Amino acid sequence: MCGIIGYAGHRPAVPVCIEGLRRLEYRGYDSAGVAFVEAGGLRIIKQKGKIAELEKDIAASGNVMQAMTGIAHTRWATHGEPNQVNAHPHVDDSGKLAMVHNGIIENFGSLRQMLQSEGHNFVSETDTEVLLKLISREKNGEKSVSKAISKALQQAEGAYAIVLVDADRPGEIWAARKHSPLVMGLGTGENFLASDIPAFLPYTREVVFIEDGELVHISANSWKVMDAVTLEPVAKEVHTITWDVQAAQKGGYKHFMLKEIFEQPRVIRDCLTGRLDTKEKCVRLPELDTLEVPKRLVIVACGTSYHAGLWGKYLFETWARIPCEVDIASEFRYRDPILCEGDLVLSISQSGETADTLAGMRLAREQGIPVLGLCNVVGSTVSRESDAVLYTQAGPEISVASTKAMCSQLTMLMTMALYWGQKSGSINAQIMQQAVDGLHNLPEALDDALPAMRETARTISRKYADSRSFLYLGRGPNYPLSMEGALKLKEISYIHAEGYAAGEMKHGPIALIDPHFPSFAIALDDDLFPKVKSNLIEVQARGGKIVALTNSGLDLDVDDAWILPRAWGPLSAFMILPALQLFAYETADYLGKDVDQPRNLAKSVTVE
Ligand code: F6R
Repeated sequence: MCGIIGYAGHRPAVPVCIEGLRRLEYRGYDSAGVAFVEAGGLRIIKQKGKIAELEKDIAASGNVMQAMTGIAHTRWATHGEPNQVNAHPHVDDSGKLAMVHNGIIENFGSLRQMLQSEGHNFVSETDTEVLLKLISREKNGEKSVSKAISKALQQAEGAYAIVLVDADRPGEIWAARKHSPLVMGLGTGENFLASDIPAFLPYTREVVFIEDGELVHISANSWKVMDAVTLEPVAKEVHTITWDVQAAQKGGYKHFMLKEIFEQPRVIRDCLTGRLDTKEKCVRLPELDTLEVPKRLVIVACGTSYHAGLWGKYLFETWARIPCEVDIASEFRYRDPILCEGDLVLSISQSGETADTLAGMRLAREQGIPVLGLCNVVGSTVSRESDAVLYTQAGPEISVASTKAMCSQLTMLMTMALYWGQKSGSINAQIMQQAVDGLHNLPEALDDALPAMRETARTISRKYADSRSFLYLGRGPNYPLSMEGALKLKEISYIHAEGYAAGEMKHGPIALIDPHFPSFAIALDDDLFPKVKSNLIEVQARGGKIVALTNSGLDLDVDDAWILPRAWGPLSAFMILPALQLFAYETADYLGKDVDQPRNLAKSVTVE
């Protein structure tokens, strides 16, 4: 989830681009770079680290104020280390084409081999350099840069927003998108391209949203949007933006948390890019190819990541038949756990820097047990200290309360269970097919469901916002989700809440129930529904009020039945999770709490 900007106009391009990057820095920040076209040709300055590092290099690079055309990038690494060589922009063999890219080219390995066999050299590990060199190859036989881009993109699989300059055509910029954001800003005597509106908001409020499959050409005084295959012009609507920069960084949402909840369909899509083969009905996780199928999986994590692990356990055991234990990292590290040959420790961490999780994985490694990291931040300590690492590719998470990161973790855990199930032959073909097809269709289904979910969350949260306590109830894989629902509510609204296995109620907690102590139940149409229903009847018999996430057509009589769209098997988690998040969000916002930065909490707990 990188930030990109392109500028063609009447101002010096470098400061405009750098300023734009600053306003996109929340999207990613492990390296940054700029390419600009001036009389002497193309110049590129890029550096590892934050934008301030890049600015130092620019200051030391002499006069950069002549160029009126430039492209720039702030990176959130998905391929290759966050270092200077892998930083964007990348340049082709002729030194004339430079490109920035946000997204992942799935077939970059085979394209790279093909280009290498034709004599192209690669300096970086990135998929971006591969795509650029493919465009450059197509450009050799073409006068039109648009045609060369079009031909190359037809060979590329995956997700991208690209912005490109050509030293032979100063004053012009090309761009294209598929599954990664790209917007165009229209000024007077200047035009912009960027991954997000804040990049150019100080200069213009006139915006054109670029859609998948479109290719764009801009100069200072012209712009054109084309179909990326036929190059036929596409009519576009110009929108006027009324938000300020801060609101625009939140994508028009009131809080980052809300934005991140609504990003989840995109997160699932990014997470699955290159990993789901819908033709062969299988999953691909080359990062795991060198590891044996573990005899036992020991998951170590904290907070929300721990809840994701608890949920994953059900799939590892059912589909891959791998015995699985899940531990809170701060407990695991101090309890002298028994680890054996054949075990694999899976360390789950959004930040990759959580002190207890790191201590847990170090303990395992000291005993010679391999560690697999599942984390969101390339180059983080978890990723560096693991024997193998899987990235969740959710993009930076800004809200302290974790939302989209958990969604990406669930996606990856499901994919891993399918992978090991397929490798050991323990999963049957029908389940595999249903899971692959279901995952493939999930982003769209969730996108469709989210707006109504938010409305329901708003209505129901108002009724319960004065509660002092909540019990969250679920069974099976919905039990860890109920724990996550309770964690979200307590951390941002400060209402006490506990997640409980619904079947455990009668062993104690039911004593708490009275008309002022509501329960939030997960009672979907699955094998455990009859059991959950009878647990809820017991609560109602003690005067307890119940909000229940459920499906249509079920025989369930509760105070507030919240109907969710049906989803196949474990995919229901991807409907339950945002509903829980939105309920907590709407409650906290209604109560006037600081949703994005709740009291006493830090985004990354790097101390014990
Ligand atoms: C809750 C939350 C925390 C984190 C926990 C682990 O919303 O964000 O519970 O999940 O601190 O953090 P990571 O995943 O970065 O190791």
